[in-house]
Amino acid sequence: QVDLLQKAYKKVEDNKENIQLDPYRLHFHLMPPTGLLNDPNGLIHYKGTYHVFYQWNPFQTAHGSKFWGHYTSRDLIHWQEQQPALVPNEWYEKDGCYSGSAIEANGELVLFYTGNVKHGEDKRETYQCMAVSSDGLKFEKKGPVLFLPEEYTSHFRDPKVWKREDVWYAVVGAQNLNKEGVVALFSSTNLKEWNHIGILAGSKLNGLTDLGYMWECPDFFKLGEKDVLLVSPQGVEAKGHLYQNEFQSGYFIGKWKVGTTEYLHGEFTELDRGFDFYAPQTFEDERGRRIMIGWMGITDEQEVYQPTIEKGWVHALTIPRELVLEGEKLIQKPVTELKQLRQEDGIKYNVKLENEEKSWEKLAGVVSELKIRFEHLEAETIELNIRSHLKLTYNQDQNLFTLQRKRFKDGKVESRSCELPKLEELYIYLDTSSVEIFINGGSEVFTARFFADPKDEEFAVNVKGQVHLFIEKWNLVS
Ligand code: FRU
Repeated sequence: QVDLLQKAYKKVEDNKENIQLDPYRLHFHLMPPTGLLNDPNGLIHYKGTYHVFYQWNPFQTAHGSKFWGHYTSRDLIHWQEQQPALVPNEWYEKDGCYSGSAIEANGELVLFYTGNVKHGEDKRETYQCMAVSSDGLKFEKKGPVLFLPEEYTSHFRDPKVWKREDVWYAVVGAQNLNKEGVVALFSSTNLKEWNHIGILAGSKLNGLTDLGYMWECPDFFKLGEKDVLLVSPQGVEAKGHLYQNEFQSGYFIGKWKVGTTEYLHGEFTELDRGFDFYAPQTFEDERGRRIMIGWMGITDEQEVYQPTIEKGWVHALTIPRELVLEGEKLIQKPVTELKQLRQEDGIKYNVKLENEEKSWEKLAGVVSELKIRFEHLEAETIELNIRSHLKLTYNQDQNLFTLQRKRFKDGKVESRSCELPKLEELYIYLDTSSVEIFINGGSEVFTARFFADPKDEEFAVNVKGQVHLFIEKWNLVS
């Protein structure tokens, strides 16, 4: 029998030099040591340590039989790579230890994940499995504990477990027999036996007309007085500026009658309006914050053209973002710990522009943070150019914010937009080959990878009309 773990270590070792030479390796984002990363899994703050697990294929920069890679941190800034928590070496997970979640129970760190077994291209079995650890580092597999009810197809995965009023609950991403995306709800008193309560939400339920054929990676949590459901639906058609990516990730705000399938919710809202964001997961940390991390990538046609593939790795996770509810909207704020990355006091610029273009050669640092406040903005359009590669445009007449980048496949410009009644502030995190843009305090977010000339740090503004800009810039440490 091949030792998969040793094989993975060898792969990491063999590719170390190649990877170190890559100027697009990120400085403050979690990445795979080699191979492909996708969903964040098992996010938890356990006994003072933050744990981030992730879907990992160490052997290829393509999808395949996934491991759970593992990073830990005391402060969300300094991360340590740990031994992979799950290696797909049992019969019930032979084609991958797929996504799942973590909880603390009786002092132990308990993981729930999907054991994926494939028979050819479109036949599969799915087992929701458990693994337990007393130190948060070494996990003992307990095998399948939650089985596929007959109401669903075998597209049934990504268990997220939590406790409410002394009962354990789980949501699982699923497809019903009519091939509609749904979320299945379960309860348990001992974590080993699970009772199927029913369908919590779905593609054609609760006022929705058609929100896709499969819902992946559900997450369900209380925030303030509301209950928030995150899901990643597949098969939603683009509509105007909405749903432009191959797959979506978004949320519902509602009220849950605890323990039942009664969940009255509002509309589906996309979490991120950029190009590269999928399968986010949240957890509540020991300070009571609801923190979300997403996959800064997506399975689409462009995935295979990412330039890091020739260096033997692909994809990363987003920065941790705190979620706050404002009315019926989720606001995303970079966790305040990230300020520790700032190298020095910020450099400040304060300029009034009228029908003109202005550029700064070094303002868009390769690894940097930019805060831009817009005052007295009266302009048909204002454009910001970052590193000669990204273009951010606000069209005040149309109330439209647009991000453009060059497509990996052929360098053609592609764009994503969202409606925005007013542009007040942009908070931008740049990291060698990624951008995360928080608009007006995080009410809209655009996440994207981009691959500019590694030395280009130019920042340019072009305004048709007038504006008073207050810019603050920090270089960030690795
Ligand atoms: C989402 C997803 C999950 C699955 C995992 C496999 O990106 O497809 O539904 O568990 O990735 O890696």
